[in-house]
Amino acid sequence: MPSAVSVVARSYPDRIIGIDNTLPWRLGTDLKNFKALTQGNAIVMGRKTFESLGRPLPNRLNIVLSREKIADTDNVKWAQDPETALLLADFYSICKGNKQFFVIGGEKVYSIFDDYINKIFLTEVFCGPINGDAKFDFDFPVDEWFYRFEKEFPKSPVDEFPFRISYMVRRKQKHRDRMISEFKTRNPLFDGNWELYTQELSQKAEQEVEYAQLSFIERLGG
Ligand SMILES: NC(=O)c1ccc[n+]([C@@H]2O[C@H](COP(=O)([O-])OP(=O)(O)OC[C@H]3O[C@@H](n4cnc5c(N)ncnc54)[C@H](OP(=O)(O)O)[C@@H]3O)[C@@H](O)[C@H]2O)c1
Repeated sequence: MPSAVSVVARSYPDRIIGIDNTLPWRLGTDLKNFKALTQGNAIVMGRKTFESLGRPLPNRLNIVLSREKIADTDNVKWAQDPETALLLADFYSICKGNKQFFVIGGEKVYSIFDDYINKIFLTEVFCGPINGDAKFDFDFPVDEWFYRFEKEFPKSPVDEFPFRISYMVRRKQKHRDRMISEFKTRNPLFDGNWELYTQELSQKAEQEVEYAQLSFIERLGG
């Protein structure tokens, strides 16, 4: 199945990601990167994060986890449990020939999918001690993760604080498998043209996707 990739911004060193259901900072450059990474892909989020966005993010499939039903639209899909969220993300990614989908928060949702995450784009915001009620409290020990890329950005007119974007990869990748029948039984829209989907998927090597993502970050911020 496609890779689950996390994108998160947390304060350094306190690991705060949110307060009162908003982001504690304004970082235009980081948002630009978030947009570039997630465009055209499925994004999985919790109901609170969905509300904090104020609207579904365009050009992406917004998969929203909630125990209460959320009305589906063209680009918003309700997931009543984590397994449904994964199934929707896999289905959409395969149909689009995407190698990855993104887990975009908040605290609860990062924890739920932690076991499936192989790659993380982590932004650390050098804002000093701040108040917050949501955290991303994970360590990335070097025997389990390696840092493939890192870039620091200064404070600027569009970035309230200096920050660093790191890209980390799990050393022992976790693979998820599915039977084609899962799509057929749980999603009647799946037309069974699996051959075509897998062909598309393999043609888009994940290394190429990563290369494009890291080159974009390299060019960001002048
Ligand atoms: N800095 C960043 O990168 C970043 C990114 C994203 C979010 N945030 C911040 O994080 C905060 C929100 O995080 P959060 O942890 O409070 O909320 P959240 O993870 O966004 O959403 C939690 C909600 O997800 C649903 N949910 C959780 N587990 C579920 C399950 N097993 N089955 C079905 N639904 C489930 C529940 O919705 P229902 O209550 O409707 O059932 C739950 O209330 C905000 O402050 C936001 O700004 C920061």
